[in-house]
Amino acid sequence: MVTAVGISKQWPVKFRLMWAALRTGYAIPRTFLPDVYSDDALICFNNDAFRDDPAFRRAYARGVQSIGGEDFYHWEWRFHIGLWAAISASKLDGDFVECGVSHGFLSSAIMQHLDWDRLGKCFYLLDTFGGMDPRFVTDAEEDEGALAKSQAALDFGIYANSVESVRKNFAEWKNVRIVAGTVPETLDQVESKSVAYLHIDMNCSPPEVAALRFFWPRLTPGAFVLLDDYGQRGRDQQRLGMDAVARELGVPICTLPTGQGLLMKPAV
Ligand SMILES: C[S@@+](CC[C@H](N)C(=O)[O-])C[C@H]1O[C@@H](n2cnc3c(N)ncnc32)[C@H](O)[C@@H]1O
Repeated sequence: MVTAVGISKQWPVKFRLMWAALRTGYAIPRTFLPDVYSDDALICFNNDAFRDDPAFRRAYARGVQSIGGEDFYHWEWRFHIGLWAAISASKLDGDFVECGVSHGFLSSAIMQHLDWDRLGKCFYLLDTFGGMDPRFVTDAEEDEGALAKSQAALDFGIYANSVESVRKNFAEWKNVRIVAGTVPETLDQVESKSVAYLHIDMNCSPPEVAALRFFWPRLTPGAFVLLDDYGQRGRDQQRLGMDAVARELGVPICTLPTGQGLLMKPAV
């Protein structure tokens, strides 16, 4: 079993070489323009001062701790959006839910940042902790190799492959429910009647669409829904699925340059 310790050291040589090439690609713009943000499919000239905020750094470090202490994500801007949504949602009534947790990078960082147990909310964390379930990927996603990528992510430790290691990551908090199993089958284990923050990040469309449909009536007015992959190239199935639900619900999805999608439950 791959554990969250020294994950990248356990990667096959070919994958490590590909990774090094990718990292070099991101480093090149920074060589010529030191202030540019260049990471995680985003090259941006705007101000990224949030990265210097000590509280942000502490939260990001807590996320990195969840994956064994080495940052192979490099997703600070995406993380910043997630943290912003969580901080904003913490002022609303309702619990927090994440569908697609893996090691808990973003969710444990949010809990650390918000001093979670003092908030009086519950954080529900739903994942198979075993990758995608073949019953819940579209034919197109299967044809594009989604299941093989999910298996590789498990083999390389990028996805958590045991719920026990994830439980350890969250052991410092009381107000957390880890729900192991396949979305949508586990959705009704979320007992909360009101949800202020929903993060959907399962990398395949059917369970993501089901999660949005399930939670929409439970979202508190002003609640935030963050779709991790909505605007990423090559994730058309997820985007089209979410667009169809959003049309039915009569709400627009904002595509962020980080590749995320952002939705808010209207206040009226
Ligand atoms: C990209 S990872 C989530 C990353 C996480 N949000 C973070 O902050 O690091 C995607 C996760 O979705 C899970 N997953 C995929 N299909 C699922 C399904 N139908 N039900 C539950 N979890 C699923 C995988 O096991 C994997 O852990």
